[in-house]
Amino acid sequence: MKVLVATEKPFAAAAVAGIKDIVEKAGHTLALLEKYTTKEELVAAAADADAMIVRSDKVTAEVVEAAKNLKIVVRAGAGFDNLDLDACSAHKVVAMNTPGQNSNAVAELAIAMMIYMSRGQFTPATGSEISGKKVGIQAFGNVGRLVGKKAEALGMEVMAIDPFIPAEKIAEAGARPAASLEELYSSCNFVSVHIPATPQTVKSIGYDLITKMPKGATLVNTARKEVIDEEGLMKALSEREDLKYITDIAPDNYAELKEKFGVRVFATPKKMGAQTAEANINAGLAAARQICDFFATGCTKFQLNKF
Ligand code: 3PG
Repeated sequence: MKVLVATEKPFAAAAVAGIKDIVEKAGHTLALLEKYTTKEELVAAAADADAMIVRSDKVTAEVVEAAKNLKIVVRAGAGFDNLDLDACSAHKVVAMNTPGQNSNAVAELAIAMMIYMSRGQFTPATGSEISGKKVGIQAFGNVGRLVGKKAEALGMEVMAIDPFIPAEKIAEAGARPAASLEELYSSCNFVSVHIPATPQTVKSIGYDLITKMPKGATLVNTARKEVIDEEGLMKALSEREDLKYITDIAPDNYAELKEKFGVRVFATPKKMGAQTAEANINAGLAAARQICDFFATGCTKFQLNKF
């Protein structure tokens, strides 16, 4: 079988070597498409692939339709909003992710972002410390829980909320459960966002929630830019000169935000939460193993779609 690794933002070389090793030892061949710049390149490379490993690469209906031999696509990572699951199901392509494999890298970035903003983006101005402050974790999944643990170890108070996790489980994991999003936003110096982008969550964080935050608070987004209502964010930052926003994915209105609010906002130039050698190796190799297991035994653990 031909396994295509298609990564606009490539994995670390060690991860590619590990994927190749797993794939070839299982008797398959590896094809690599890295740093491509057009969707046509992806469509062409996918045309004869039996399996695909991607990151945030957009596996659209066009890609799935062009990939006539495709049987499985694995998103090496957690969020799968880049996969057209309906198109995969329509073509009987199994879609999977690799949950948890890159969580530590994202959690470390969330903590780094809190410190970066507390220190005025490393300008000489007097900053503040995160120890003794309160962080609210919005969604207590793999990443959220790790952020909570790390924050606690750094002396922060941790509050959390998750629509799918009961309050007692959140408490068992060492965080104080928030009764509502309003409570989380109004009582935390930092809110760290870990919700996926879904039709229910897109633009769900806007003016009303952001302006509930206490004086000097920072909103930290290592999830998806789509979950923020950018107009609401702009209005909130305009009215509240004490609030700050840091994100791993530049909002569409970033140039305007930066011009208006300077060091109160920051966006990474490229999504870098999972961009560590360790996360690339964990997620990339897990994806390769999932594909080889699927071909060898039909294992569909971590399948996301139904058909
Ligand atoms: C994820 O959903 O796993 C992260 O956002 C990582 O995305 P990336 O693989 O494109 O860096």
